[in-house]
Amino acid sequence: MLHGEAGIAESVALLRAGGVVGIPTETVYGLAADAFQPVALARIFEAKDRPLSDPLIVHLPEASWLERVVATRVVADRDLMERLASAFWPGPLSILLPRHPDLPDLVTAGSEWVAVRVTSHPLFQEVIRGLGSPIAAPSANRFGRISPTMAEDVQMELGEVISGILDGGACSHGMESTILALHEGHMEVLRPGPITEDQLIHFGHIVRRERLVNTPGSLLGHYAPGKELHILKKDINQQEIPVNSGVISFRGMEVDVARQFARMEILSPSGDLREAASNFYGALRSLDKSEVDIIFSESLPEEGIGVAIMDRLRRAEYGSKNKYGHHD
Ligand code: TXA
Ligand code: MG
Repeated sequence: MLHGEAGIAESVALLRAGGVVGIPTETVYGLAADAFQPVALARIFEAKDRPLSDPLIVHLPEASWLERVVATRVVADRDLMERLASAFWPGPLSILLPRHPDLPDLVTAGSEWVAVRVTSHPLFQEVIRGLGSPIAAPSANRFGRISPTMAEDVQMELGEVISGILDGGACSHGMESTILALHEGHMEVLRPGPITEDQLIHFGHIVRRERLVNTPGSLLGHYAPGKELHILKKDINQQEIPVNSGVISFRGMEVDVARQFARMEILSPSGDLREAASNFYGALRSLDKSEVDIIFSESLPEEGIGVAIMDRLRRAEYGSKNKYGHHD
């Protein structure tokens, strides 16, 4: 576990030597490697047990680095891209853009598109600048499992198989970046996230399920705990709750309902969806580690970042019941 300025320097040294390092971002912890070292990139896939067909997001410390990884001259939706970049970068938005020809194939899984985002996390920015090279990083969990929002989570997921972990405390958003594809001035949300449709709608039309590009990583069974997870029915009285169950509650439950559960994690007592998102993976992980046999979760309102939370919850439910996810 690496800390402070010395930890940043050590992370840079490890990355330069081709290592893979757990790094905090404003969304979730990433498993970082130099985007231009194919052997280091291969270590990411190996550590996570992730299929090589699943491409990686490339992280930059500022938008002026774009031309290192993107064929900027051939960006068709340049105006839209620039407007989105100035509104949301640095921050939790990844945009699919035409790849630079020099970018290793492992980053894009052979696709002509690369997902790029400018991170706002000060430690991550410092590491990228220190390395002097863009950094490819998926979430720092074993493939298909719960994303880490604390350095300790990365330790538990991957501690044995990676070079180091830079401790930056809790991630502020706690939910992976929104991924966008652009097409003739339109946007397609490939993965809902902290930048919500309400925020994007001001920049153009949002198209649905057009599959302008294929997202190999959009597996139905993802973000899964080891225990079975069930989303509660609206009318909880219609649901059989086994004796030793845990529950994720949005704002808390009435006493007679809560009594049915051995353990409860409350995401946001005040009903704030942003706060709920930042606590979601931690709550799931904590119930998964606890003594309960089975996990239930309330549904959350599907508005704002609630869309992203419900997306993850459904995939986690599916993934907990089916060992291998299927494309949705
Ligand atoms: O917030 C985030 O996005 C975090 C932090 C670490 O930046 N990263 C993250 O990466 O969530 P990952 O690999 O766990 O999820 C990225 C998703 C995958 O589903 C992948 O298939 C998709 O983005 N993706 C990445 N590059 C792509 C590309 N070139 N074309 C289509 N989909 C892509
Ligand atoms: Mg992931």
